[in-house]
Amino acid sequence: MIKRSSFFLFLFFSCKIYSQKFEGLALTPPMGWNSWNTFQTNISEELVKGIVDVMVSSGMKDAGYSYIVLDDGWMTMERDPKTGDLVADPKKFPHGMKALADYVHSKGLKFGLYNCAGTTTCAGYPGTRGYEYQDARLYASWDVDYLKFDWCNTDRINSIEAYTTMSTALKTAGRPIVFSLCEWGTNKPWQWAAPVGHLWRTTGDISNLFDGILDHGSWQQQGIMRIVDSQDTIRQYAGPGHWNDPDMLEVGNGLTAAENRTHFSMWCMLAAPLIAGNDMRKMDESTKNILTNKEMIAVNQDALGIEAFKYRDRDSLQIWFKPLKNDAWAVCFLNRGSQSKQIDFDWQNETVNDTLSKRELNAKTTTYKLRDLWLKKDTGDTKKSSKATIASHDVLVLRLNK
Ligand code: GLA
Repeated sequence: MIKRSSFFLFLFFSCKIYSQKFEGLALTPPMGWNSWNTFQTNISEELVKGIVDVMVSSGMKDAGYSYIVLDDGWMTMERDPKTGDLVADPKKFPHGMKALADYVHSKGLKFGLYNCAGTTTCAGYPGTRGYEYQDARLYASWDVDYLKFDWCNTDRINSIEAYTTMSTALKTAGRPIVFSLCEWGTNKPWQWAAPVGHLWRTTGDISNLFDGILDHGSWQQQGIMRIVDSQDTIRQYAGPGHWNDPDMLEVGNGLTAAENRTHFSMWCMLAAPLIAGNDMRKMDESTKNILTNKEMIAVNQDALGIEAFKYRDRDSLQIWFKPLKNDAWAVCFLNRGSQSKQIDFDWQNETVNDTLSKRELNAKTTTYKLRDLWLKKDTGDTKKSSKATIASHDVLVLRLNK
């Protein structure tokens, strides 16, 4: 008979081996595409294949985007009555999920799916509650690489327990899967989710609105600036392997070019997951150039994984700083107002201190070279002040290198 102590030792080491497979999966914020923001439940194999192809041909893959994630609406309305398994909707996905995952993988990309901790998903498809281990095994058998796990129809279940159960189920199924928690910040996941998953939504659903709220009665969507406003106080909880997720991108979904640039810049500054949500098959040059700006993406993907902080907020002009590796920095001047703004930022008279990373930017003692990440031009150094005009809802983003 196995002794109790040996059994627990065995359990401990198995869990450790499983967990190791999940560490290192998201050392920088995950990058990819998700179907929800543009297509809601109107998804299909043909659409996804088209998106996969354009991810490669447009340069998105080269820029670092890798996950293709199907959101709500990929299943039939019922589980298989015999096995209890989830079933891919045969009308939308005639060749099933394994074949689609194979297609995604054949292009050098990764494949993600969506489900929900409740009895049904937000759009009414079968949820995972009570089927965590079975669903995790199914995803592993389909070679899924990423799971977004929502929070609708969860009654009053405990969120830490529900997400931990799914996390353990995925680890037990054994395939390394990025686990994306989507409980909208309801139970402050930044305080407990780092050992459970790789990213957690911090807020309700985003909309293609620069600022304000879209009220749908029973639920609301938030504009880009509203979301930005709730990130500054939780930056200490994010870092390599565990990220605050202010929701998927609305770049290319109806914002102006300036607003697209601002939205993308702030997601890069906040070390947010960069999950595009547009119809990439139809994106214009401006949207493509924004989403594939490699120098901006390098700020997002910086190995330190430190989120930006708000340094100044005056007359609708905010200044955000993000510490980067090799003693570099990124700074974003963000004009939230409806008029253009002149800036004249005298580096010699500013001392920027980040109490979290204990980094200081002092241009009196160190001279930094400046690079404008949208103009893609060197613009002098910190011996002189930076002067610029920033259009309404636009940004100036500079990288400071020693
Ligand atoms: C919730 C999530 C969204 C999306 C939908 C799908 O609202 O927050 O991101 O996944 O459900 O129904």
